[in-house]
Amino acid sequence: MAQTTAQTTHTGEGETRRDFIYLLAAGTGAVGAACAVWPFIHSMNPAADTLALASIDVDLSPIQVGQAITVTWRGKPVFIRRRTEEEIAAARAVNEAELIDPQPDTARVIEGKDEWLVLVGVCTHLGCVPLGQKTTESRGEFGGWFCPCHGSHYDTSGRIRKGPAPANLPVPEYAFTSDTTIRIG
Ligand code: FES
Repeated sequence: MAQTTAQTTHTGEGETRRDFIYLLAAGTGAVGAACAVWPFIHSMNPAADTLALASIDVDLSPIQVGQAITVTWRGKPVFIRRRTEEEIAAARAVNEAELIDPQPDTARVIEGKDEWLVLVGVCTHLGCVPLGQKTTESRGEFGGWFCPCHGSHYDTSGRIRKGPAPANLPVPEYAFTSDTTIRIG
């Protein structure tokens, strides 16, 4: 009886060890595939200088139509893109019912400022920073942003359209303080 118990225990440990080895291998693979992962842990424990930047003002005047800039806010990258007419039209031509995380483009921009799209630039899958801020980078199949870590495609409204990410790129709280300045936060 005691021997049976010992064998059972041993088997259990063996399985646990195999599981561990498997998970370790899977984990290593995941790290190998990942790229530009934003340090969530760091951003959840912001330093004093980061906390001091609870709000930031951004001058939009240098940004031409079709261009984008990235600013850092509360330890995270924020994408600001000045969209072309075509990009706005593409975002609005979508059948909302087909979206993974349904939301109209009009709910993701400030009324009357449709060309400006402001997003937290952290993939909602596992936290990589998507490509697409530069015109030379891949913008994915929907012309917005592409996260190469596991293949998530975002559209010109920052909505997830294809791939494992479960949600749209978030729109941070922001407001226009002048025609060409926004305050984020
Ligand atoms: S982190 Fe996995 S697709 Fe972006």
